[in-house]
Parts: sequence; structure tokens; C-alpha cells
Amino acid sequence: MDKISINGGQALEGSVNISGSKNASLPLMVLSLLTEESCFLDNIPNLIDVFTMKDLLKSLGVKIFSKNSVFTINAKNISSVKANYDLVRKMRASILVLGPLLARFGQAEVSLPGGCAIGSRPVDLHLFALKKMGAELEIHDGYIKGIVPKGRLFGTEIDFKQQSVGATENIVMAASLAAGKTVIKNVAMEPEIDDVINALNKMGAKVRRLGKKDIEIIGVKSLDGFKHTVMPDRIEAGTYAMASVITGGRIKLINAEEKNLEAVLNFLKKIGSLVYVKENNIIIEAPKIIKSVNLKTEVFPGFPTDLQAQAMALMTVASGKSTIEETIFENRFMHVAELIRFGAKINIDGYKAYIQGGSKLKGAQVMATDLRASSSLILAGLRAEGETILSRVYHLDRGYERMEEKFSLCGANIKRI
Ligand code: UD1
Repeated sequence: MDKISINGGQALEGSVNISGSKNASLPLMVLSLLTEESCFLDNIPNLIDVFTMKDLLKSLGVKIFSKNSVFTINAKNISSVKANYDLVRKMRASILVLGPLLARFGQAEVSLPGGCAIGSRPVDLHLFALKKMGAELEIHDGYIKGIVPKGRLFGTEIDFKQQSVGATENIVMAASLAAGKTVIKNVAMEPEIDDVINALNKMGAKVRRLGKKDIEIIGVKSLDGFKHTVMPDRIEAGTYAMASVITGGRIKLINAEEKNLEAVLNFLKKIGSLVYVKENNIIIEAPKIIKSVNLKTEVFPGFPTDLQAQAMALMTVASGKSTIEETIFENRFMHVAELIRFGAKINIDGYKAYIQGGSKLKGAQVMATDLRASSSLILAGLRAEGETILSRVYHLDRGYERMEEKFSLCGANIKRI
């Protein structure tokens, strides 16, 4: 199995091309299930999660041709409505096929995603909404089995008790082909959802955000194919921005959207970094001394949970004490035990981590536990003196495209072994 070796201590300087967003690419690929026509996507990142989604769609009989970052997907004829456990367990976003399959084919069978390292991550919101739209859903042998007795889902009002990115996307997709109007209340605000809404509207759907927390969808009978360029990955951009700061360097993020990074850039400014924005390029320059700042993850536009682990790596070398509170997932501190192996001083109490800054990080053998945790260990390794070996690199490959190559181009001593 691949490992990554880093010899830390270099200040990173250079430019990083930000890839297409993983979290937008996955639902955008699923949109193809809503139409007989071909769908064209470009700027799709080369990632394991994208391969898993490709395998999942292919297992349903969907035709997919891909060359580099360009995908042509056609779901005119499908051969199955069953999303198997083997694929769903690899990636929770597989649940996104449930709504579109029920909406277009009136039936679906999707394995329950189950828990994962960062928490139990239920799918109750997805199921509650689809039932309200007329689907009959039962759970048997670990599978969600659904049918739409009336043949077509119907529009209704759905009030989510909690904001969920995946549930919002699933229901927006399903409601696009439902009969009548759906209003979803308390939706998530993440920009990847808007990328999906933009593509859906290109397909002939009638979706619009109403104010800050609601989405209205007027269902249509059928949808067309579409062409769409995936938005840049804000989490990847944030990760490289933090790499620049933790190594005392200066990195230019090419194709990074400031509007989607406001909370992250504010955090970086608060800890003393200099931030220069010119159109879709953002330069992040490290301060001489990184200031300690308390942080709390929140739904968009707040600070993203997907950058919490990376921010924690930064705080371990900051000037003083800080706290990081995780409010989205119940068990997203798996990186703490590994950061401690570098010499970091962190205590956890429930959802809060207490970080004593000023640690002189030393290279260590560490293990990735989940996708974003693995990038925080890379950041610590880039800062640390001596050699770091990161194992279970597949977690990293789920969500970061050619990370070691991008870091090497900025002067890092990093290689895959
Ligand atoms: C998406 C992102 C993930 C990010 C997360 C939060 C994708 C592919 N993944 O995940 O990178 O970390 O948003 O920004 O876009 N919940 C329920 N019931 C449900 C659904 C969710 O209780 O039916 C809870 C979850 O357990 C979690 C919270 O809601 O505590 C937010 O989860 P959600 O926004 O749904 O995350 P995902 O869409 O899975």
C-alpha cells in the first residue's frame, strides 16, 4: 500500500492549480440519472471518490466515457436500480442516487451507508423527505428499498430539522421531476449545492433559492442533457492556503473563488496571514508569528468542518492557546492522536479541542484516519523537522488530486513510496 514520505521544514513558495470540487462533482455526476439525454461535465478531479461514483453509476447500467477531466454520461437505459453495499460502503455520497432513481424510475434499492470514522452519519433526513413526497421506503437486510406507488413523486413542503448538504441535494434532484411544487425549508447553504442547482436549471428544471434557508422547486415532466464546468474545490484551496501558512511560505492559489472562502480567509487573516485576491487567484503569505485564535466549525458560510483538522495542525505551532469546536460531526477529532505523535499538545473534551501552541513539531510515523485528517497530517509533516511517513494514503486520494505533485512544485520534499 502507498505511503507518503515528507522531509519537512521548507517554506513553500509557488503556485497551485485548484482542481474541480469533489463535493460538487459527485452530485453533478448523479444528475445524469434524471435524463435520457447525454450530460457533459468538465473539470472533474481525478479522485478515488469520483471513480467510486463512476463505478456505482456503471453498476446501474449508465454509460460513462471519460478522458482526463471531461466526462460524458448517458443514463438513457439503465439495467438496475440497486446500489450495492460494496460501493456504497466506500463512499457515503452514494446515497445521492436514491432520490433521482425514485424520481425517474419509481423504484430504488440503496444500501444503507452506515457509520464512518467521523460519526454515525444517519440518512433519516433523506428518507423523511422522500416519504413526504410519496415514496414508500422500507429497510430490509441493510438496504433501503423504495417504490413510488403513484409512479411519480409529488411536490410538498419539507422542513428539515437540521441542515444537511446531501439531503438538500438529494431532495432538490428528486423534486425536479416530481409533480407540482416543492418547498424545502432549512436547507444547507453550501456552494456545491448551487453548482448542482445551476446544472439542474440548465437541464430545464425550475429551482430557485428563496431567501437564505429555503429552496423552491417546480417539478417538470422530463429533463434535458446539460454541459457544465465543475466549480473549484474550496476545501482543496483552503488546505493549500494553510500549508502556505504552516510552513512560513507564500502560495498562489490559481482558480480559487474568494466568495466561497470568506470564513477561511478571515481565519487566516486573524492569525496574521496576508491575503491578496486578484480575480480568481488568491495569494496567501504566512505571518512571522502565527497567532492563536479560537475556532468553531459551522454550516456554510461558517468555517467548514472539512478544514477543521488542517486548522488544528496550524494552531499547534501558533503563539499561544486556542480551542477548536466541532459542531457538525460528533467524532471528527481522529487526527488529534496522530498530531500528538508530532509533538503537538492537544486535549479533547467532548466537541472541543484545547490546543497549546508553540510546539516544535518533529517528523513521525502517522496514519491517516479519514480524508481531511490525512491532509492535516501532511501539513504537520511539511512543517516538522525530519522525516514523516504517512500510511493509509488512500484516504488522501479520495479527495486530493496529485497532492504530492502540487506540493513538490512549491518546493516541498515529499514523495509517494
Ligand atoms: C457533505 C460533504 C462533506 C462535509 C459535510 C458537512 C459531500 C459529498 N460531502 O457531507 O465533505 O463534511 O457535507 O459540510 O458533499 N445528518 C443527519 N441525518 C441525515 C443527514 C445528515 O443527522 O439524514 C447529520 C450528519 O450526521 C452530520 C450533519 O447532519 O452531523 C451534516 O451532514 P451533511 O451535511 O448531510 O453531510 P454530507 O452531505 O454527508
